[in-house]
Amino acid sequence: MTDMKQLEERLKNAFYWFHEYPELSYEEYNTTAKIREILESYHIEILPYDLETGLVAVIRGEQDGPVQMLRCDIDALPIVEQTALSYRSKTEGKMHACGHDMHIVAGLGCAVLLQENRDKLRGTVKVVFQPAEESSLGALKILETDIMENVDFVWGFHADPTNAAGVIGIREGYVTAAVDRFVITVKGIGCHGAHPDDGIDPILVSAAIVQALQSIVSRNVNAFHPSLLSVTRICAGTTWNVIPPEAVMEGTVRTMEREDRVLYEKKVKEIAEKTAQAYGAEAVVQWIAGPPATYNDKKMADLCEQKAKEMGFEVVLEESSMGGDDFAFYEEKIPGCYVKVGTGVGHPIHHPAFAVNPEVLLPTAKYLTEILLG
Ligand code: NI
Repeated sequence: MTDMKQLEERLKNAFYWFHEYPELSYEEYNTTAKIREILESYHIEILPYDLETGLVAVIRGEQDGPVQMLRCDIDALPIVEQTALSYRSKTEGKMHACGHDMHIVAGLGCAVLLQENRDKLRGTVKVVFQPAEESSLGALKILETDIMENVDFVWGFHADPTNAAGVIGIREGYVTAAVDRFVITVKGIGCHGAHPDDGIDPILVSAAIVQALQSIVSRNVNAFHPSLLSVTRICAGTTWNVIPPEAVMEGTVRTMEREDRVLYEKKVKEIAEKTAQAYGAEAVVQWIAGPPATYNDKKMADLCEQKAKEMGFEVVLEESSMGGDDFAFYEEKIPGCYVKVGTGVGHPIHHPAFAVNPEVLLPTAKYLTEILLG
C-alpha cells in the first residue's frame, strides 16, 4: 500500500518541478519525459502511442467494465510569472498560469491510486496527458490516433481560482462555449488622404462592419441562448495622409448551441460581404472553427456530485463560461463530464499571479479516483 503521506510529498515535489519548468503547446517534451519517469517509477503501463508530446497511461481493472478516459492537459502559457512562490517559473516568459501543472499531478496521483485499487476497478482507465490545450486544438492530436476508439466515457477537470480548496463546481449541460475565429479582409482602393473620392476607404467599411456584427447577438440569436462576438484586432494603413487599400480584422465568436454557431457563421459572412459591397468594397471572410461547447452528461455529473459529497467536499454550481476547452472535441464522440476543482480563491487563470494551493493535489487525485471507480 502506498503511504499517503509519502504520495502527497511526491505529488507536491512533482508539482513544484512542473511549475518551475513550464512548456508551451506542442513543445511539452521535458514535461512528457517527467510524466513518463514518474509513471514508470510506480510501474504503471504506458501505451505505445507515437505522440510527439503527451502520453497515455493505462490501468486495467480486475473486473469487467467500461473503458473510461481521464483527460489531463499539460501545457503552459507565454506569460511572465509574477508570483513570490519559491517554485515560480524558471523559464522566463513561460508560466503554468492555467493550472495545467496541477492537472498533470492530480492525474499522476489518480493513476497511482487506481493502479493500487485494480481489484476494485471495473474495466479500464486511460489517463491521457494531452498536449496543447491552450492552442484549442491539442485534443485533435489524440483524436488522430485510435486512443479513443474503444472509450465509453471521458472525464475532465480544471483548476478553479474562484473557489476555495475543498470546493467542487459541477453543472449538467453546457459549461464552456464553442470557440470560433474569423478573419475579415476588406479590399478597397487606396488613395491620398485628402482625396477620399479617388478611392474606396476600407477603414470606414471596417468600422461599419464592426458595428453591424454586434446586431447578430441582439437581433438574430434567441435571447435565452448565451453567445457573443468580439472583434479583437483591426489592422490597416501605414501613415496619416494615405488611405490604405486594405484592412484586416479578426475576432472570436462564442456560442453554446450548435444552431447559433451555424447562424453566426452565416451572418458574419453575409454582413461583412454585403456591407462592403454597399460601400463599393469587397470583404473576404475566413471562418476558423475551434472546439464545440463542452456539455456535461447528467448521469456523469450526478456521479461527480455524489462522490464529492461522500468525500466531504463542498459542492457548488459550476459557473458556465464563454471560454472554451478542446475537451469538447472528445464529447463529440462520447458522453463526458468536466468539473471545476477549487484551488484557493485568488487571481484568475491566465493571470501572471495565478497560483494553485498545493494542498489540493492529493484530495483531487483521490476524488478523481473515486469517480473512476464508480
Ligand atoms: Ni486551462
